[in-house]
Amino acid sequence: MNKKILVTCALPYANGPIHLGHMYEHIQADIWVRYQKLIGNTVYFICADDAHGTPIILQSKKLGLSIENMINQIYLEHINDFSRFNINYDNYYSTHSIENKELLINIYVKLKQKKLIYSDIIGQLYDTKYNLFLPDRFIIGTCPVCFSSKQYGDSCEICSTTYNALDLINPKSVLSNTIPEIRMSKHLFFNLPVFNNILYKWISSGVLDNCVVNKIKEWFNVGLKPWNISRDAPYFGFLIPKENNKYFYVWLDASIAYISTFKNFCQKNNNINFYEFWHKYSNTYLYQFIGKDIIYFHSLFWPAILHSIDFRKPNKLFVHGHVNIDGKKLSKSKNNFITANSYLSILESDYLRYYYASKLTLSVSDINFNLEEFVQKINNDIINKVINLAARSSKFIIDKFNGYLSKKIFDQTLNNIFINASNEIQLAFEKLNISFVTKKIMYLADLANIFINNNKPWLLTKKNNYHDLQNICSMGIHLFAIIMAYLKPILPSLVKKTELFLNTKLVWVDHTTYSKLITDRINSFTHIAKRIELAQAKLIMI
Ligand code: 2FM
Ligand code: ZN
Repeated sequence: MNKKILVTCALPYANGPIHLGHMYEHIQADIWVRYQKLIGNTVYFICADDAHGTPIILQSKKLGLSIENMINQIYLEHINDFSRFNINYDNYYSTHSIENKELLINIYVKLKQKKLIYSDIIGQLYDTKYNLFLPDRFIIGTCPVCFSSKQYGDSCEICSTTYNALDLINPKSVLSNTIPEIRMSKHLFFNLPVFNNILYKWISSGVLDNCVVNKIKEWFNVGLKPWNISRDAPYFGFLIPKENNKYFYVWLDASIAYISTFKNFCQKNNNINFYEFWHKYSNTYLYQFIGKDIIYFHSLFWPAILHSIDFRKPNKLFVHGHVNIDGKKLSKSKNNFITANSYLSILESDYLRYYYASKLTLSVSDINFNLEEFVQKINNDIINKVINLAARSSKFIIDKFNGYLSKKIFDQTLNNIFINASNEIQLAFEKLNISFVTKKIMYLADLANIFINNNKPWLLTKKNNYHDLQNICSMGIHLFAIIMAYLKPILPSLVKKTELFLNTKLVWVDHTTYSKLITDRINSFTHIAKRIELAQAKLIMI
């Protein structure tokens, strides 16, 4: 049955370039979306720039640009990077939009009517040199629980405790390196604790993997806290109606942008019904890809807001770990940072897609980007096993048969093994166990190469045994086609070239389509993909 699915990625901040850390999420989501489309589901894939908050102001000052100019410029760069990686967004929008502002204010009014918002006067850390209240990530100090130093104002990376910045021991401003003072101010709070039971039930309903659920349960044990949704000026965002110079907290309008981005998409496409996807009893699906650092927002605040406004909640949150480079965190200052743009100026987008796919399991552990391993994997798997299969088979078909394939499948048993793998591969794609998918496909590629090695077409041509030569090489091409059909969600660019070579469009693998040879005639084999030299690959680090 055809499913209707909406897929989102977390919204990248509009204050810096897309880097290989971001790409891990956008690539995995895009693979999943392409797979869903390939098996016949209707999928809309959306994302947006997260354009509000204090770091945006600070970055625009650093660049000497107006905030609007900076976010517009970065928006174009982000779109360009994603499209060069073939991340096929149906709509890529911004939190700084009219639709988002309208929706945010409507939702806020609704939350107030339902008495879910209350005000309180609280103390917060203020940087007297920069004249602003410090966001949590701009405060550093010692964790009040495990006493680890250099921890941020919201949570400890060592013991994972979340706390209030005021609880940090010896807090310092990251901006000015001064000791911040506590200033009192009125703030607005969303009453999260009233959703305790609803959320507890929801997180345990299969929307998250068990290891993530256990982490969230720890937060329940400590007790859910009300959520401060307001910020004082200076701030960049939307003003809160009927309040004196108070802004909505960036995280509130960022989550609402999942909805407003889709709304903007529906406005541009009249045939898509906005409410069908968002009303409480919707039978469409919502899948969201996020990093493990933002589980709190997506598993607690976000579903609570959706519940309050009688909107549907996600069917699944796909949570992933972070990308390290050679075992170390991505860091610009420590020269351990690769932007999407510097990668793309040297290497094929599909190679990173494959490398990430091969590492993608259901675990939330961090993955490691290592250039030697990357080069080896691409050369061994993509070039030696897959592309070489087409190169060695097509050579004879072009030279001796003018590109024409034989009329029948030479080895039906082997063909059945290839087609029957479809169920297992499909199940793994569905669950996002893409590492298993690549392993299974490489196993098939090994079988195909063994088939060619055993049948030795180079000897058949010497013996002028043209009948068998055409059959064997046609079989080689056909098996290559099946392998590329399985790889289609992962390698869109190489599959496009493959389809030109094969003179056919590759569809999902089943007995109906692949029990006979996939094409009559191939075009001459131009290089679909090239080997990578390590020395050349190293240039992406610069
Ligand atoms: O962590 C981040 O990069 C945030 N900009 C993600 C926001 S996702 C959301 F809630 F909209
Ligand atoms: Zn700690």
